[in-house]
Amino acid sequence: MAANSKALELLDATAHTWQNLRGQGLDWPAMPAPFKAYPRDVRMVPLPRPEGWPAISCAEVFAGSAAPANVPNAAAVSALAQLACGVTAVVRRTVDEFHLRANASAGALYPCELYLAAQGVEGLPDGLFHFAVQRHALGLLRRGQILADGPGLRAWLTVIPFRSAWKYRDRAVRYLFLDAGHVLENLDGAARALGLSCRVDISANARETAGLLGIAPERERCLVEIELLGNADLASELPPPVHAGLARASTVSPREVEYPLITQALDLSSPGKSRDAAASLPDKRTAPAPLLERPFVQAVLHRRSRRSYMAGPLPSGALDALAVALSNPAGASCGLGVGFVVGGDESAPGGFHLLDRESGTLGASVFAVDRKKFTEACLDQAWMTKAAVLVCFFAAPDEAEAAHGPNALKRLLIQAGRLGQRIYLCAAALGLGACGVGAFIDEDARRTLGLAASERLLYVVAFGPVRGVVD
Ligand SMILES: Cc1cc2nc3c(=O)[nH]c(=O)nc-3n(C[C@H](O)[C@H](O)[C@H](O)COP(=O)(O)O)c2cc1C
Repeated sequence: MAANSKALELLDATAHTWQNLRGQGLDWPAMPAPFKAYPRDVRMVPLPRPEGWPAISCAEVFAGSAAPANVPNAAAVSALAQLACGVTAVVRRTVDEFHLRANASAGALYPCELYLAAQGVEGLPDGLFHFAVQRHALGLLRRGQILADGPGLRAWLTVIPFRSAWKYRDRAVRYLFLDAGHVLENLDGAARALGLSCRVDISANARETAGLLGIAPERERCLVEIELLGNADLASELPPPVHAGLARASTVSPREVEYPLITQALDLSSPGKSRDAAASLPDKRTAPAPLLERPFVQAVLHRRSRRSYMAGPLPSGALDALAVALSNPAGASCGLGVGFVVGGDESAPGGFHLLDRESGTLGASVFAVDRKKFTEACLDQAWMTKAAVLVCFFAAPDEAEAAHGPNALKRLLIQAGRLGQRIYLCAAALGLGACGVGAFIDEDARRTLGLAASERLLYVVAFGPVRGVVD
């Protein structure tokens, strides 16, 4: 019998069961810091307020349109960073405040960090920067020429695994990739809105990127490299880091624990420099999703996780708009399945409808879903019973790995995260609610959806009318 794929092994080894969920407390003194702290020698370059936000609609962005090509200035870089993962709401608590961001994040633990290399960008020195989210500023890590040719703008997205693993242990491996997908989708849309390109490479070499970005590879890993302007190689001689101890900033807790399955999954990435079409932009333009006329920027800035769903129908056309919006991005080839659970409350039997991502249409129900049972499988998150639609992302990991090699799991989860963020943005554009769900008893959820024994559920996002005003 053929051995299981690594992707399947990792998903099964990080599956929730009712047994393995018992008695998992949190080590509060080890709670990771949400922001990196660099030595004082790292100069902070404040980012100017964006000069008016681009007006391009969600429908246009999702359909693959872009604003006319543009060489960005510091204000455009500011908008790009803000829309990718900037702070969009501050929750004041008794003793402190908590920052919510443009991207959804499992447990609001925000494992992702964004780095940028800018060259010939008006208003910024040439160099390599870290985006300091809480200060909306760029920490200058290397000053001078980073790219062999200019003008140019390049980004790297990293994760600090312990931020998520502190709470979710080995299961965090899924959330790291999903979270990165959420940020990447924002970044991609923002790049389009600002007239930049967004070519994504998910096969970053851990050692090389760690050296370049000044991160500690056992604590922080680069997942994705993104060309936003130009496609120059790195300069043959890089300017030195501004401080010898930059890598210490990858430590975010006094008591970090290494989770071997996470390390294994991060090590799986095949090295090399092959562009990954599955995580990249679609080449072809498709018809815009109807109804999604709200400016993309407004949808990002107003997006929030909402859980107060109301029973009742979706506004006319909303289901089609969602189906079309989820069909446009490239990536159907990475083997990600998308199905909608619709109905299944007291009023109507539930059905599982597969989305044909070529045509943007939903098929007839392929399985009768007991919504109550499915909600129970999602750790009894009772609010899910009333959401009009539960979008489910799934895959056959063995097949995906046979077709796409060791990056398969990463590709699937990043793609699911991207589409998850897109569901949030659709909801914000339509005045509806959305909320990601990564917590489920895997085997129960698989059976309740009628997925094949070789398939696994990867992620769920609820979508539908909610109580209260959605601004
Ligand atoms: C991968 C992922 C998994 C999530 N899982 C759940 C979940 O199981 N239950 C839930 O209520 N929220 C879940 N969320 C939503 C987060 O709790 C939410 O994004 C975070 O608290 C930040 O709030 P915001 O989305 O309003 O900015 C998930 C989000 C992501 C990205």
